[in-house]
Amino acid sequence: MRNTLVVANWKMQKTVAEALAFAEAFLARFPQRSGQALLPGADAAPEVAVAAPFTALYALGRALQGTPVALAAQNVHPQAQGAFTGEVAPGMLAELGCRYAIVGHSERRNLFDERSDFVAEKAAALLQHGIDPIVCVGESVDQRGAGRTLTVIREQVAGSLAKAPSAAAQRLVVAYEPVWAIGAGVSATPEQAQEVHAAIRACLQERFGAADSEKIRILYGGSVKADNVSALVAQPDIDGALVGGASLQADGFAELVLRSGDCS
Ligand code: PGA
Repeated sequence: MRNTLVVANWKMQKTVAEALAFAEAFLARFPQRSGQALLPGADAAPEVAVAAPFTALYALGRALQGTPVALAAQNVHPQAQGAFTGEVAPGMLAELGCRYAIVGHSERRNLFDERSDFVAEKAAALLQHGIDPIVCVGESVDQRGAGRTLTVIREQVAGSLAKAPSAAAQRLVVAYEPVWAIGAGVSATPEQAQEVHAAIRACLQERFGAADSEKIRILYGGSVKADNVSALVAQPDIDGALVGGASLQADGFAELVLRSGDCS
């Protein structure tokens, strides 16, 4: 069974002080937590990670140390070091204790022109440095309208995972985020999302074989909220959520996490 994963994607939001205030308020909602789990004893206790801006990672990482909430970055450069002004290397994120890093988010693909081959380099570099990549894919509204959703998704999945070694397949996380649902207030329906997640699972199976592909978590993202998360994760191939807007308030995000495990 795949353990549900809920990832907060703060995007370009929260100063260090705001990130620390969030951590304190969020953890206070889980007073019974043990070192390993937010909801000890719950059958479907979800794993939680917070993808903060680079500037908050050091302080937030210290605040989350010894808690069940994992630290995540929102981007990385694939090179280990060098003349790449303004970029951050995978080893730098590993030093801060990042367990995950998002790569290929549609905002990076669309606003910063990132292509799947560059995303593939980033994912491979993260794996080498002990950080699990959360590889995002998603179609635009025009691509969906033209009936090209599954073709686009298959291309993005194959391209973005092209450099991931099979031995590390189980550490991959894929996030399906239809661009038209991000920040839109209305998510894909569970059925729409499941159709794409099943197609992604089939791509993973082709690439890594049946056994490994069954272990890779595929998250859904795009207007996930406390009141739609449980219907989404109830789908057979939806293994968690990547959450933007609804992850910014500690109480609201705690509620969403509780409902993702159907534990509320
Ligand atoms: P949203 O963002 O939850 O605000 O739609 C999701 C994302 O972009 O990761």
